[in-house]
Amino acid sequence: MRRVITYGTYDLLHYGHINLLQRARELGDYLIVALSTDEFNWNEKQKRCYFSYEERKRLLEAVRYVDLVIPEEEWDQKVTDVREYHVDVFVMGDDWEGKFDFLRDEGVDVVYLPRTPEISTTQIKQDLREKQ
Ligand code: CTP
Repeated sequence: MRRVITYGTYDLLHYGHINLLQRARELGDYLIVALSTDEFNWNEKQKRCYFSYEERKRLLEAVRYVDLVIPEEEWDQKVTDVREYHVDVFVMGDDWEGKFDFLRDEGVDVVYLPRTPEISTTQIKQDLREKQ
């Protein structure tokens, strides 16, 4: 079994997220999403989510490409995660290009997938604000 892992916030789930999850899952047989907790988003990314961690988790669990959702609580958990979950492939969107190459030392394939153009959670929030 080839296990794939990816990380992210996944607030206001949109088709850019689905495209990423579908392609990530196609790189293996089992997809784990490490989902940023509300505390991690706020403390480390200064991001306040519209949906809570539990709501975002439920949405992801309803996506057919996702097999398991675990919490992302700190930047440094990646090495521990890939060991603990016996991960073969680490996937991120190419906005993170090069940032996680160090995981190759763990024997993991590190893949950066092209983002879907013209959609992001930030963009959705901005568009909704402008329409009011
Ligand atoms: N992603 C993607 N294409 C998009 C938007 C996101 O492939 N148009 C990918 C990201 O590269 C990441 C994952 O989806 O691997 C989760 O991204 P996240 O940061 O949660 O979503 P964004 O829409 O980029 O959110 P924000 O605007 O808050 O950064």
